[in-house]
Amino acid sequence: MDVRPPKSSTKRRHLISITDLERADIERILQTAEGFESVMRRDLKKVPTLRGRTVMTVFFEASTRTSSSFELAAKRLSADTISLKAAGSSVDKGESLRDTVQTLSAYDPDVIVIRHPAVGAAGMITAWTDAHVVNAGDGTHQHPTQCLLDLYTIQAALGGIEGLHVAIVGDVLHSRVARSNILGLRTMGARVTLVGPPTLIPRDAAALGAEVSHSMDALQAADVVYVLRMQRERMAPGASYVPSLSEYAAVWGVTPARVRPSQLVMHPGPINRGVEIAPEVAGSAASRIVDQVRAGLVVRMAVLYDLLAGPGKADAESALRIVSPEVVSAAGQEVA
Ligand code: NCD
Repeated sequence: MDVRPPKSSTKRRHLISITDLERADIERILQTAEGFESVMRRDLKKVPTLRGRTVMTVFFEASTRTSSSFELAAKRLSADTISLKAAGSSVDKGESLRDTVQTLSAYDPDVIVIRHPAVGAAGMITAWTDAHVVNAGDGTHQHPTQCLLDLYTIQAALGGIEGLHVAIVGDVLHSRVARSNILGLRTMGARVTLVGPPTLIPRDAAALGAEVSHSMDALQAADVVYVLRMQRERMAPGASYVPSLSEYAAVWGVTPARVRPSQLVMHPGPINRGVEIAPEVAGSAASRIVDQVRAGLVVRMAVLYDLLAGPGKADAESALRIVSPEVVSAAGQEVA
């Protein structure tokens, strides 16, 4: 395939890992997201900020929340969108990731949002396109925008993140959400404890800055209980991590008896009711699961805005800049 080499790879910013962002960057994105809340409350929920820009979402794995919120976020910012799912695309005909990305790049997208089952896939495609690349999940590695929306949800509910104690419970080993969240929460000054059977806790927990407990009693000390599903599609074929799902649910399920009323309960979804989380907990007043989904929209709007619309937009040197909610609402006035 004859394609042009990327023009300016050193100048473009990407969001591949939560570690691409320093604390000030995270704070800026959360503040921008908060600014977009007022736009979401209007009858006309659209701002012209990214008019003429193109955002492509390319999903090689199943998704409900992440793909729909990225697409809606781009549309609410008035960008043109193309949403490709691997099933039904030329990937079914044997096209490689590289050829797919180079083909889509012929339309000069400004941003490519990619989800792929292989660790490193999002980072790899930055070499094959001139677009900014946003990682929407690469295997068990990273899911930075999930981390940002979780930080946003915690901050909105509890007023801040510094000094909080978050317990992440369940299949941490196969979770890119946990990897991003441990690092993001630590950057924001929270304490993190991983809770689960030894077979589902990664060996590098301490290196990531997390404590480990193999007892559900550890949930009691946490301000936030963050529940993960058993990610069977990411487990090695034939490998067995727990004796059975029903035993897992009995020992490691988050039931009403295992959480305190004042704790927040979170879950990135999709939830498996009655396995990792009891239906009564998922639907309780403590649950922030729906808030997380709502946060996904404004946070992904903020990420697209941050990459494309600020001063010095595509310039890595000017990555740090403050975008106040007033600036965002001023952009909104144009169509109000
Ligand atoms: C997560 C994912 O895809 O990693 N889901 C999501 O993005 N909302 C978590 C999961 O699959 O369990």
